[in-house]
Amino acid sequence: MNQNELKAQTGQESVKYIKSGMIVGLGTGSTVRYMVDELGKQIKEGKLTDIVGVTTSSRTSKQAKELGITIKDIDEIDHIDLCIDGADEISDDFQGIKGGGGALLWEKIVANASDKKIWIVDQSKLVHKLGAFPLPVEVIPFGSQLVFDRMEKKGYKPSWRMDGDKKFLTDEKNYIIDLHLGEIDHPMELADELIHMVGVVETGLFLNRVNDVIVGTEEGPKILHAR
Ligand code: A5P
Repeated sequence: MNQNELKAQTGQESVKYIKSGMIVGLGTGSTVRYMVDELGKQIKEGKLTDIVGVTTSSRTSKQAKELGITIKDIDEIDHIDLCIDGADEISDDFQGIKGGGGALLWEKIVANASDKKIWIVDQSKLVHKLGAFPLPVEVIPFGSQLVFDRMEKKGYKPSWRMDGDKKFLTDEKNYIIDLHLGEIDHPMELADELIHMVGVVETGLFLNRVNDVIVGTEEGPKILHAR
């Protein structure tokens, strides 16, 4: 099976956890795309009813609306039953890096509002320690070069996320700085340090957040219970 087939497998499997009447957080990324397609299909076939989606990016909103999934703004609801999202890396102790697609801020807000969180990944995303995947940090444009320079001085090996020859813009019109750390020994301390840098809006460290992980493997989808 290639990586896309594994992504499709876990994406489709995750829809089994959605029940009629739920408010569902819809993540972002190529794995989530398969989940949203399957959800749209099951709604169309009448297998799932009264589903409301809350999306984590304008991309996912567009896809969900095209499939006829009812979407509400995060400020129109008071809770989310279940959030299903992708991840870029998941460590042995179920800490994660997200934001490879640039949607980390809305993803964290939606995850925070969710009673239960499931991450869907192919097996290549499981790692011993976080950090080989560049850590995305969302910063407001004003003064962002100073934030970048500060990160460089600290040895965090920052690079600007680009979109062609322009800086990538998030849904909130912010920039992303990717930190090429190699290994993250103390994710909690790092998250705390970064979030306290003025100009940083959010980091891609998703710590102590996920409940279950569905992994696409050659032998079929596997569920890992984090907490
Ligand atoms: C979006 O910003 C990310 O957090 C994605 O959830 C993550 O990058 C996983 O994406 P893929 O499913 O495309 O690998």
